[in-house]
Amino acid sequence: MSRVTVTGGAGFIGANLCRELLDRGHDVVVLDDFSTGHRQNLDGLDVRLVEGSILDAGAVERACGDAQAVVHLAALGSVPRSVADPQRSFEVNATGTQHVLEAARHHGAHLVFAGSSSVYGSNPALPKHEDLAPRPMSPYAASKLAAESLALAYGASYGLPILAFRFFNVFGPLQRAGHAYAAAIPAFVDAALRGQALTVYGDGTQTRDFTAVDTVCGVIADAVGRGVTSADPVNLAIGSRISLLEVIDAIGRELGRPCAVTFGPRRTGDVAHSSADGTRLRALFPDIRTVSFEEGLRATISWMRALAPATAG
Ligand SMILES: NC(=O)c1ccc[n+]([C@@H]2O[C@H](COP(=O)([O-])OP(=O)(O)OC[C@H]3O[C@@H](n4cnc5c(N)ncnc54)[C@H](O)[C@@H]3O)[C@@H](O)[C@H]2O)c1
Repeated sequence: MSRVTVTGGAGFIGANLCRELLDRGHDVVVLDDFSTGHRQNLDGLDVRLVEGSILDAGAVERACGDAQAVVHLAALGSVPRSVADPQRSFEVNATGTQHVLEAARHHGAHLVFAGSSSVYGSNPALPKHEDLAPRPMSPYAASKLAAESLALAYGASYGLPILAFRFFNVFGPLQRAGHAYAAAIPAFVDAALRGQALTVYGDGTQTRDFTAVDTVCGVIADAVGRGVTSADPVNLAIGSRISLLEVIDAIGRELGRPCAVTFGPRRTGDVAHSSADGTRLRALFPDIRTVSFEEGLRATISWMRALAPATAG
């Protein structure tokens, strides 16, 4: 058991991770400014909350001061958000990461970083292997690549124990719809439960390596528990390749009725296909426990039903 600080712990992945870490007996501190996270995600969790921004060195220090490990998840997600406000995305995602790295350096904490598969961008090779040249297509992807490079450089320069993951498309309970930058699966499920048409940007043939949040949190918690490090980034996904149209079919099957779909223009910065090469992940985490797409989707639908019982179908 150790003390673990989770930046962005009130967010979708963060709050799921806090549960996993508490279940494994860790003391958990959350640093979050609630810019996209939600207080109720932490309801009933025995965590210490430091409310503040990763851009505030004092808040970072208060949250990381006595941590043996820091899982750095705080960031402004979403490609379209970064296209609308690239400056803010860079500040939070890249400069904010530098603050967290400094705190980890001062305290010799193990740092697990949440990078993104978006860094592969327009590189057409599939599956995405970590040694491929990154080709970011959006300010978000560029900010995550900058942060990842900083994290790995801190490992090389200061011997800081670092593990930089590249998450692919994570989905599951606590991922919310109902805002402009919602991810595809919660937006689809929310619309379907309300009996509304699902909006697809592009023709829906774009593919993603959709990975259930329980899979992701299990791997992160294992990394924390065993102090896993790597000099190179590590993909964190199950190696699936599912199109948006297949996601919509699967939602229809789960709900027992087909979903109506409308199509909008493809969005700037949207990558065509994405699927992870999991060789490096499986070498570091041979006992990885994966949750299937269908199982993850069922958990997502039941959580969203409970969230909006008045509108759930
Ligand atoms: N969800 C995915 O599919 C996915 C894919 C790739 C990478 N990631 C990365 O995983 C991490 C978590 O993503 P998520 O999906 O849980 O997003 P999220 O928006 O639900 O969580 C991010 C959390 O960070 C907090 N935060 C934002 N700016 C902050 C700041 N300046 N100071 C303190 N806290 C701040 C937010 O309030 C929120 O609680 C992010 O780093 C994201 O880039 C997510």
